[in-house]
Amino acid sequence: MKNIISSFTLPNGSVLKNRIAKSAMSENFGTRNHAPSKGLINTYKVWAKGNPGLLITGNIMVDSMALGEARNVVVEDYKDFELLKEWAKSVEGTDVHLWPQINHPGRQAFAAINREIVGPSAVPLKMGGASKMFKTPKALTEEAIWDIIKRFGTTARIMKEAGFTGCQIHGAHGYLVSQFLSSISNVRTDQWGGSLTNRARFVLEIYREIRRQVGSDYPIGIKINSADFQRGGFTEKESMEVIRLLGNEGIDLIEISGGTYEKPAMVQGIQKQSTVSREAYFLDYIEKARKLIKTPLLLTGGFRTVKVMEKALEDGSLDVIGLARPFCLYPYLANQIFDGSVKQFDTPTPKIGIKFLDKLGGVELPWYELQIQRIGNGKSPKTDLSGIFAFWFSLKSLFFKSFWKN
Ligand SMILES: Cc1cc2nc3c(=O)[nH]c(=O)nc-3n(C[C@H](O)[C@H](O)[C@H](O)COP(=O)(O)O)c2cc1C
Repeated sequence: MKNIISSFTLPNGSVLKNRIAKSAMSENFGTRNHAPSKGLINTYKVWAKGNPGLLITGNIMVDSMALGEARNVVVEDYKDFELLKEWAKSVEGTDVHLWPQINHPGRQAFAAINREIVGPSAVPLKMGGASKMFKTPKALTEEAIWDIIKRFGTTARIMKEAGFTGCQIHGAHGYLVSQFLSSISNVRTDQWGGSLTNRARFVLEIYREIRRQVGSDYPIGIKINSADFQRGGFTEKESMEVIRLLGNEGIDLIEISGGTYEKPAMVQGIQKQSTVSREAYFLDYIEKARKLIKTPLLLTGGFRTVKVMEKALEDGSLDVIGLARPFCLYPYLANQIFDGSVKQFDTPTPKIGIKFLDKLGGVELPWYELQIQRIGNGKSPKTDLSGIFAFWFSLKSLFFKSFWKN
């Protein structure tokens, strides 16, 4: 286990004390007013005790008018600054890095909880029976695009001032940044659409704005899709070019994932024979990326055994292992790996038998969110938690939020 346990120094000098990162998972555990709840802060205290090198928070929204989920945390001003400071302190005394993941949902926003939904272009999601839960987005104006870019910088700066030790742009999974990158959701004909140079402008400007607001020595990372896995969408080749551009800009850590709400490869994998045997969904991509750029790489999706994690690090194609669902069932995961008590971590895929919901992760995601909330409420994870209960819980939070939309 010598590789997993070894420390890693980012280009800016920040040290991750080991190679395990908890990847971002939306906790849906903010307060009614989108502040971090005490329970949410408590979850991070527990996770910090488990000693991973890096904890990345669930996605935090840059605009209270654009929510991915009913109980997202939103950071757009200093309103909840004291609670943000308390959240940052959850890792106090542990040397665990705590980075917020910063996001705008764009068109992947439930109609029930948002007054207006925006995207690069007025292209609706195609999700079969679930499409009705989303609206055709309104195409963003030039002014609105610059406003969102600025918001990413503002959120990062406030979080830095609160004590978070780095930040991550959510550029993956079909949210706004990823929508700009994809020719399916971005059919603009101005400087933000068309060529890859134009589609990548949004993410590059976000990176520059954050850098401008947080300074040159603060770690900034991004989570980005290796591909969307949709015909006509963001391709592997395009993804490689975007990470090359980000690397040239000086980004500190690139996390690789893949998929969108329409094609949820991030949690379901891509069933490629070459990667199935090696657990990790996007390993082929990262091996190619390694040859292209010098930027540190983090890979998330599918890792379930210490043996495979150690081998991936040993091979040298990545620097940090990202784990998400395992952290919901093994809250002290890094320590459990280091003391040898856990060598393999299984994560169930709860279903309720409604095909389109099961296929889109409509039960699985709330099921894992409930596990996170149990941790924050001082309870143990519950592997026999009912899928129907999780689904009901997510409907309930959307239903109540629909009455007090921002
Ligand atoms: C409940 C839940 C919420 C998630 N929320 C986010 C999120 O906010 N941001 C993000 O980048 N990925 C999110 N993901 C995806 C995970 O970060 C990760 O990419 C995916 O679960 C695959 O990793 P794993 O196989 O280790 O779980 C979420 C996954 C789950 C299960």
